[in-house]
Amino acid sequence: MIKMGIVGAGLWAQQHAKLFQEIPDVECVAICDVNEAKAKEFAAQFQIPKIYTSHKELLEKSGCDALSIVTPDFLHTEIVVDAANAGMDMLIEKPLATEKEDVYRIVEAVRKSKVRVMVDMHNRFSPPFNNAKSILDSGCFGKAINAYFRLNDVRSVATDMLKWASKSSILWFLGSHSLDTLNWLLNSRPKEVFARSSRGVLDAAGVDAVDVYQASLLYENGVIAQMENGWITPNGNPCVNDIKFNVVCECGKLDIDASNNTLLKVTSDTRMDTGDCIVANQVFGSMKGFAYESIRSFLEKLKSGEDFYVSLEDSANVVLALLNIMESAVTGKIITCDYI
Ligand SMILES: NC(=O)c1ccc[n+]([C@@H]2O[C@H](COP(=O)([O-])OP(=O)(O)OC[C@H]3O[C@@H](n4cnc5c(N)ncnc54)[C@H](O)[C@@H]3O)[C@@H](O)[C@H]2O)c1
Repeated sequence: MIKMGIVGAGLWAQQHAKLFQEIPDVECVAICDVNEAKAKEFAAQFQIPKIYTSHKELLEKSGCDALSIVTPDFLHTEIVVDAANAGMDMLIEKPLATEKEDVYRIVEAVRKSKVRVMVDMHNRFSPPFNNAKSILDSGCFGKAINAYFRLNDVRSVATDMLKWASKSSILWFLGSHSLDTLNWLLNSRPKEVFARSSRGVLDAAGVDAVDVYQASLLYENGVIAQMENGWITPNGNPCVNDIKFNVVCECGKLDIDASNNTLLKVTSDTRMDTGDCIVANQVFGSMKGFAYESIRSFLEKLKSGEDFYVSLEDSANVVLALLNIMESAVTGKIITCDYI
């Protein structure tokens, strides 16, 4: 039996808790949130016996085997470092951290304590991207030459869903997924980045955040890539995400449109939505989407002792490169990336 604890009783933690409920040899025994009312409500919803308002108390008293860290983007570090020092294995929501010093603190604490950590880079578990990886790695199309990845959210994610969007960035919220996916698919990482950003739409809506980043990436293996991450897709978009991916190789290409798929269209009198058939969907009540597969994989590898499909180093280096992209957007200069 794996005894799980969750830190952060917000929206996304529900996905973790739903899966923990479904797996027979996993039990969620503790929930922690600085907001006691939210912690209690979450505990009642998922029948979690132990409730805490401090992660330190949870670490001391809960008897958990591992933790899901599901606090806002910029509030992972203290919890992760304390949990590592307490010998706790962890599934950490993306991004690993949002400051360079925090990345180094986390990596040092994890390496010293030898705990096992996976960052929830669940796009690697998305069926079209996972299939693309197999095709690219087979070498049947030769080397990759250039790639394009647009991963945008509708505006309401920044204006309504996330109460802390002004303290984060679309690069943290979605850029972490798109850069991780590009690096993983291309088996490389950016050597140099150049980026432009635009703002104004979210400012006008009262959210102090960049609207959109466009980044040009030169990979260490020579691939050139373009990455777009925006938070201002109109709310009428039929899917919360706008996802377009393309990679051109020496003798073939792959294209993914994961948001405009027509598997299921749900149309009311006022709008049409693409029904979720791959992200956090259920089949006869079982959690089947790739958001769950990533969490499931963490639990399986935790049990088997095998390596996670996402390494700490990959996730740490994604944060460092995203900081370089932000720096380039501010300075207008090409930035050479440096990694752990
Ligand atoms: N894998 C994905 O695609 C995906 C999707 C959505 C969100 N996320 C990530 O999950 C994380 C949480 O996002 P969310 O939308 O659930 O946010 P949320 O605001 O709904 O929930 C965060 C919760 O953390 C609590 N919290 C803050 N500081 C805390 C602390 N020190 N100790 C305990 N609790 C604390 C808050 O009170 C809040 O209840 C973010 O990092 C986000 O990027 C990942």
